[in-house]
Amino acid sequence: MKRVRKAVFPVAGLGTRFLPATKAMPKEMLTVVDRPLIQYAVEEALEAGIEQMIFVTGRNKTALEDHFDVAYELEATMRGRGKSLAVLESTRLPAGSIASVRQQEPLGLGHAVWCARELVGDEPFAVLLPDDLMVGTPGCLAQMVAAYEQVGGNIVCTEEVPHERTASYGIVTPGVRDGRLTEVRGLVEKPKPEEAPSNLGIVGRYILQPEVMGILDAKEKGAGGEIQLTDAMAKLIGDQPFHGLTVDAERHDCGDKVGFVKANLALALKRDDVAPAIRAFLQDIA
Ligand code: UTP
Repeated sequence: MKRVRKAVFPVAGLGTRFLPATKAMPKEMLTVVDRPLIQYAVEEALEAGIEQMIFVTGRNKTALEDHFDVAYELEATMRGRGKSLAVLESTRLPAGSIASVRQQEPLGLGHAVWCARELVGDEPFAVLLPDDLMVGTPGCLAQMVAAYEQVGGNIVCTEEVPHERTASYGIVTPGVRDGRLTEVRGLVEKPKPEEAPSNLGIVGRYILQPEVMGILDAKEKGAGGEIQLTDAMAKLIGDQPFHGLTVDAERHDCGDKVGFVKANLALALKRDDVAPAIRAFLQDIA
């Protein structure tokens, strides 16, 4: 079985739910406490053993690449002022470990993943959507890689979602359950609650086999007129093992304003440097 070495980060969406913040700045640069969403996702991938990060970007997205580059002027000024550069440590990746491709038009998540096909090549790969901020120990993708090493094939990260919210998710038709792993018998993108096969929703982490790229070649449109990753994944079922893994992690949907504010509070309350002040403030305003 080939190891999962590559991860695709689809970051070409328009982020319309976050306007005006995302007019000139990518959604993935929105900051939770003191680091942008993309950094949490890249750190999670590194922890899971990923060696090659592939950003699928669009216009206005250069800040994402710059974030992981050397910042000569900033670093020289900080050195000159005797400030430690340790705070920048986790934005330094081994040379050559980030590549990016452009998705010229935001035609959907499936299309964004397909744009990375040449860089992914013929090996299994992970997909991380940075606006789903996952907090767990070990990290979400590390848990998925451990499961992948047991069962192989394709694995999506799943979560029980409220029945009335199925139309916001890809939903699984579940088969046999074994602890946190559920066999996937079918997938449907954004079903209405009355048509949903379960309330097991897919959240923003995937381990996929490269054959999904061949299916995405057809560029078939699905829900919302977009080229959907869920529809392409559904066509792998039966040919390859396919599981959902309910990870032991906390998810914050940072593509949504309420989820984003909650993420800031939840993560600030886990941080020794800011938690006491935030806790006191919350008690004050309660
Ligand atoms: P979303 O559904 O959250 O869309 O995409 P969005 O455009 O980012 O945000 P809203 O809904 O307009 O506010 C889920 C993920 O897929 C990526 C997004 O960047 C995000 O990480 N995506 C989506 C692409 O890269 N390209 C697309 O064409 C669509």
